[in-house]
Amino acid sequence: MKLILLFCYIAVSLSVPRGRRFDNEKLFHVTPKSDDEVKFIKHLDTTMKLDFWKPKYGHHVTPKTKVSFHADAQQSKLIEALLTQERIEYRIVFHDLQKAIENQFTKGSERKKGFSHYHDWNEIAMWAYSVSLNKPKLASIVQIGETYEGRPMLVLKIGNQKSAKKGVFIECGIHAREWISPAFCQCFVNEAIRTYGKDKAMTKLLDSLIFHVLPVFNIDGYVFTWTTDRLWRKNRAPTFIDKCFGTDLNRNFNISWNGIHFDDEPCSEAYAGNAPESAPETQAVTTYIRNNLSSLKAFISFHSFSQLLLYPYGYKDEEAPNHKKLDQIAKSAVKALHSLYNTSYTSGPTFSTIYPVCGSSVDWAYDEGIKYSFVFELPDEGDYGFMLPEHEIEQTCQETMLAMKQIASYLID
Ligand SMILES: *[C@@H]1O[C@H](CO)[C@@H](O)[C@H](O)[C@H]1NC(C)=O
Ligand SMILES: *[C@@H]1O[C@H](CO)[C@@H](O)[C@H](O)[C@H]1NC(C)=O
Ligand SMILES: *[C@@H]1O[C@H](CO)[C@@H](O)[C@H](O)[C@H]1NC(C)=O
Repeated sequence: MKLILLFCYIAVSLSVPRGRRFDNEKLFHVTPKSDDEVKFIKHLDTTMKLDFWKPKYGHHVTPKTKVSFHADAQQSKLIEALLTQERIEYRIVFHDLQKAIENQFTKGSERKKGFSHYHDWNEIAMWAYSVSLNKPKLASIVQIGETYEGRPMLVLKIGNQKSAKKGVFIECGIHAREWISPAFCQCFVNEAIRTYGKDKAMTKLLDSLIFHVLPVFNIDGYVFTWTTDRLWRKNRAPTFIDKCFGTDLNRNFNISWNGIHFDDEPCSEAYAGNAPESAPETQAVTTYIRNNLSSLKAFISFHSFSQLLLYPYGYKDEEAPNHKKLDQIAKSAVKALHSLYNTSYTSGPTFSTIYPVCGSSVDWAYDEGIKYSFVFELPDEGDYGFMLPEHEIEQTCQETMLAMKQIASYLID
């Protein structure tokens, strides 16, 4: 029976989402050089309703920053003609998005070589339970709530269960399509447990800190990206418009909630929900955090992509009260990360480094009193975007571990 189950899981994990296909759809990169070029890109967006990967919305496009958007096959022909006519330089990163989706997975014999893989929700849940079962001194599991579709939300508490007092909350997978994020959370847990008692720094960290790891925040959305639509971002709850589903959980927190134009449109990719904390997933996390507030010293959220390390605020253009400290920690984390494979990250407050974001988990946690709150935008810078291949997981994990250890070291001094 167990064997059969195992085969099912392997079959599921190797299959490519059925449902929505992306044949001949394209990913464009454009770096607009002038205000005129920006205006043109924005015009393309409003007339064609493009799917922006970076920045999140066409209206956040600015001169000299890289723009990445996805367009279907028909739109793409027209866009290419228009960009050429306007003499705007562009690059097509994916000529066939469907192939890019399929190419994320390492295939055949390569797969057996022990590369890290992306795992679907069933595998992640089984893994979480087996970690807590096999390593009771270093790991325990709590169910903090249920998703809209009724899936259990699981937090792994990693650290010396006897001696560790202070806590760090880590959330991955709040945006469903950012698959490298849950992959990092899994890797973080595995590495922490594997190196405890061997690596001096990790041993010291786990003896005094409990890492509360939520490997997948938006489980329903994540399941949907495996079964139906690889590019899904929000949760899967209905909205007041029949054909539009999902709340962006990272806009649903009670901090300057719904403060930005478009966040109140249910069909938008960043719909903030009909009230702050309206999503059951958000409620589960806020309740858990409030109940553990006295011990929690840091809150870290993992996203992709862009190679950024961000900290509050996202909702206002002001320095946080401990800005200097946050900046110092972020810079040292980015430096540690760079030391392994030369991967470059930019750090800074969300608002001024990327764009305004209202209702985000990290601003909310910060406002609740968790003074060390950070957001990682994991690799890459856009050549793969959300379709980062599996063979990049290991390197991403190892370098990001260095940044995490650096941040955590500030909490135990
Ligand atoms: C959101 O925050 C406001 C102001 O702090 C508070 O009055 C309100 O009750 C909060 N709403 C929820 C759902 O927690
Ligand atoms: C943390 O929150 C959970 C769920 O709300 C609760 O069961 C647990 O007792 C809290 N832990 C501490 C140390 O307060
Ligand atoms: C990182 O960059 C340095 C200096 O440019 C170079 O010597 C080194 O080989 C690079 N390391 C890797 C892993 O790419």
